[in-house]
Amino acid sequence: ARAVQAYEPSVDSNRNSNEEYANVKWEELRFGLTPTDYMYIMNSSEDGTFSKGILTRFGNMDINPSSGILNYGQGVFEGLKAFRTENGKILLFRPEENAKRMKMGAERMCMPSPTIDQFLNAVNRTVHSNKRWVPPPGKGAMYVRPLLMGTGICLGVRPAPEYTFATYASPVGNYHTGDLNLIVEEKFRRATPGGTGGVKAVTNYATIYKAITEAKAKGFTDILFLDAVAGKYIEEVSTSNIFVVKENVISTPPTNGTILPGITRKSIIQIAHILGYQMEERAIPVEELFDAEEVFCTGTAVVINPVNSITYQGRRIEYKRGAGTAAQNLYEMLTGIQNGRIEDEMGWVVEL
Ligand code: COI
Repeated sequence: ARAVQAYEPSVDSNRNSNEEYANVKWEELRFGLTPTDYMYIMNSSEDGTFSKGILTRFGNMDINPSSGILNYGQGVFEGLKAFRTENGKILLFRPEENAKRMKMGAERMCMPSPTIDQFLNAVNRTVHSNKRWVPPPGKGAMYVRPLLMGTGICLGVRPAPEYTFATYASPVGNYHTGDLNLIVEEKFRRATPGGTGGVKAVTNYATIYKAITEAKAKGFTDILFLDAVAGKYIEEVSTSNIFVVKENVISTPPTNGTILPGITRKSIIQIAHILGYQMEERAIPVEELFDAEEVFCTGTAVVINPVNSITYQGRRIEYKRGAGTAAQNLYEMLTGIQNGRIEDEMGWVVEL
């Protein structure tokens, strides 16, 4: 028996395709799981190649208690979005970038990975079979979550003998609601040089819950991590990259192995150039937060989120937000391209 069983769908995978929209209160969408109709599952062979992926009803999976993912966290994930345009098309934003990033992460975590084509095919089929769950234009997006995990049995500490690639999807709304008030985290660190901070390993996330929980208890929305060596330079927020703006110059820390190379981050750097901002990737001392005009976070889930305030060593700094800010200008262009309202000269969007 396979470590993870995926059953052929007992019904036609186009079952709901004649229904344009699922029954969802789109206005109330937040960033959380709304279960959809199908998920895509593909297992590896013993030689590490993937084949015969199938669409199956979304639901629980059988997994061996001794699997690599459950015992030692051998897993990476991705996140990307599909958008519905005003004229009824569905667009994916830069899915190939996610496919490539999963490959990099898999290599770091000693896992075989699906080919770029297999990844893209899985994402396409997942979105297509769940089309009725893609929100109406302007009401959110469909978040697609590809997972790659060691599902083979391994009680000893070693790479699992078998892997499963699974992709599921959920309509989502905003990640943060309300003002974004950050605190600079001074006790816990997210990533160390030589560690896995630069890949989307599942093990990067639960380790920051303690810091987030403590910050939330003090009334903050999220945390901003510093580098682990000097404790002096800003790195990233729990789920997003960070940008600092001063006098038409936009700066963000370089992705040197401890920072997640965000696809939104990369897109924003390019858009900033197009919009005429001076864009710098450089180490940013935490003190620079004190005289920045604007700070914003970027990520697939958070999109571009202007920061209201940051607190560091008891001092609270507030930032400019709204009309005329760099964050607003970048947001307009990014979301315009994603929603098909602005012509995509970069070739970023892919029609389903
Ligand atoms: C994303 O923005 O896609 C992420 O992966 C962040 C997250 C863990 C919600």
